[in-house]
Amino acid sequence: MALMDALRPWQIRPEQPGDEDGIDLVLRRAFSGSNAADLVRTLRRERGYDPDLSLVAVEQAGGDLIVGHVLFSPMAIVHGDAPCPAMALGPLGVMPDRQRQGIGRTLVEAGLAACRDRGLAIVLVLGDPAYYGSLGFEPAAAARIEPPHAGWSEAYQVIELLPGALRETRGVARYPAAWDDV
Ligand SMILES: CC(C)(COP(=O)(O)OP(=O)(O)OC[C@H]1O[C@@H](n2cnc3c(N)ncnc32)[C@H](O)[C@@H]1OP(=O)(O)O)[C@@H](O)C(=O)NCCC(=O)NCCS
Repeated sequence: MALMDALRPWQIRPEQPGDEDGIDLVLRRAFSGSNAADLVRTLRRERGYDPDLSLVAVEQAGGDLIVGHVLFSPMAIVHGDAPCPAMALGPLGVMPDRQRQGIGRTLVEAGLAACRDRGLAIVLVLGDPAYYGSLGFEPAAAARIEPPHAGWSEAYQVIELLPGALRETRGVARYPAAWDDV
């Protein structure tokens, strides 16, 4: 671990059994009134869910206190009858009293690195372009990827983790049914 990482009051690690309620709490506090916590609970039961791509930021408080969470889960970009595998980033949430300390950025960067290590080449996200743009995302439309809902267009973004991954890819993004209410 780099010295700067060790000096932080929080550390990033993959989700472990027993983290479920802590993740739930972070998402309910970060996204008041949204179903982000329910989405993660549903996705956790689905085939293809990889706990190593569900990252938490934890502080030590007589045990691990979860203060941030990000999930990367499988989806596809469909063109004709040849679906191209991709990953959905989200939800991403940080406890309100821990925001703007770099936790969100570090969670995303760690998750993207973990995806890249697994050979996962494309990640899509619905979110603030100013925030995700600074993390290397670009508008999905520029990469010829259509969102599943027209209303997402402005905020729908993509990043390629392996060079050239987007060159041959285009189509419509398709999410598991759990995302229908997002
Ligand atoms: C969005 C969110 C995950 C960011 O996490 P965070 O740990 O606060 O973010 P970071 O500290 O890594 O932010 C890095 C930079 O992003 C920008 N930023 C942070 N939060 C932002 C926000 N809510 N809106 C716009 N820009 C934001 C800032 O420029 C910040 O840099 P600065 O500290 O120099 O100002 C967090 O604010 C959150 O949980 N929000 C509520 C849930 C949400 O909207 N999630 C995103 C859904 S896609």
